[in-house]
Amino acid sequence: MVNGSFPFTTSAFPNTYSLIPIPYFPMPNSLQLLPASDHPIPYLADLMTRSFEGYIVPVHITDTILHTMIRRDGIDLTASRILTNGDEHIGVAFIARRGWTCRLAAFGITSNARSSGVGTSSMEMLLDEARERGEKEMLLEVIEQNTAGVKLYEKVGFTKMRRLVGYKLDTTSAQAAVPGGEQAELEEIDIRELARLVAYHGLSDLPWQLSGATIMQHTPPSRAFRINDAYCLISNPDSADVAIQSVLVKARSRGAGLSAVLMRALFAKFPGKVWHVSPIYPEEMGFIFEHVGMERESISQWQMSRAL
Ligand SMILES: CC(C)(COP(=O)(O)OP(=O)(O)OC[C@H]1O[C@@H](n2cnc3c(N)ncnc32)[C@H](O)[C@@H]1OP(=O)(O)O)[C@@H](O)C(=O)NCCC(=O)NCCS
Repeated sequence: MVNGSFPFTTSAFPNTYSLIPIPYFPMPNSLQLLPASDHPIPYLADLMTRSFEGYIVPVHITDTILHTMIRRDGIDLTASRILTNGDEHIGVAFIARRGWTCRLAAFGITSNARSSGVGTSSMEMLLDEARERGEKEMLLEVIEQNTAGVKLYEKVGFTKMRRLVGYKLDTTSAQAAVPGGEQAELEEIDIRELARLVAYHGLSDLPWQLSGATIMQHTPPSRAFRINDAYCLISNPDSADVAIQSVLVKARSRGAGLSAVLMRALFAKFPGKVWHVSPIYPEEMGFIFEHVGMERESISQWQMSRAL
């Protein structure tokens, strides 16, 4: 799971792999989960980067990315854990919390300590801790193609809620210009107004990063726009790559193609961009992106849940 928009932000740096794999033999009962809040942000960012070495998408967590994850996703560092074997830090689990629900915001183990049962033992301990905190449900998203991750979460009792999908549209070439958006009148609104509407009109079990509570934490240079009852949040449109971070049509106006009118207007207002939809959108919403000619990304995720 993971990025800014996609579970956490990934970098363009190539993956690095250790040249000589060191076999890992954890000592019985030596695994401990220690509070992440005892360590400075730069250390946690580096440990997370090392814990996602060789991941499906390259991951490079900077201090800024981690600060954004903590603020936007509601990560509680006092409940987040460093996986420790003796003196060695062998992984990290970031836990976000809202009311009775928590979310495994990131979970990774350093490559030398994988496939030896650490993942399973740590997850069982994390579930116990969540129960002890009085929570009733743990959520997560995992990349569908991440065989080890999916197997681990199912083994400790998580079930699939739905598939989450992403899309892309490149409008940088002249032929790629999207027609039909020029006439529509876009109104810019405060992101807080959109967040309130998502909390009220959106699905109650929206993925964490699409929920009104997360949208409320977005700030400029992200911008929110509306046309009639359709609303959209986008990342900084001055950049070459722009993420669509939220799309909402009020319940009374659904089924009339308003989301397509809004997205086409955005494509026309900010031409020559590569538009991205991270794979955090419920598959049943995918048609709204297909209607405006976006192409589905190959990576998809499972939204999973575990009652506590
Ligand atoms: C996913 C991850 C946390 C699993 O941790 P782990 O310590 O290797 O897990 P375990 O050893 O407890 O193994 C859990 C299950 O996954 C299976 N598994 C482990 N590595 C595997 C691999 N490379 N391919 C297929 N299955 C694998 C194990 O067989 C085990 O199932 P079993 O007990 O039925 O045999 C670890 O591989 C990792 O940190 N990967 C990089 C970051 C990541 O993917 N995080 C999850 C993001 S949502």
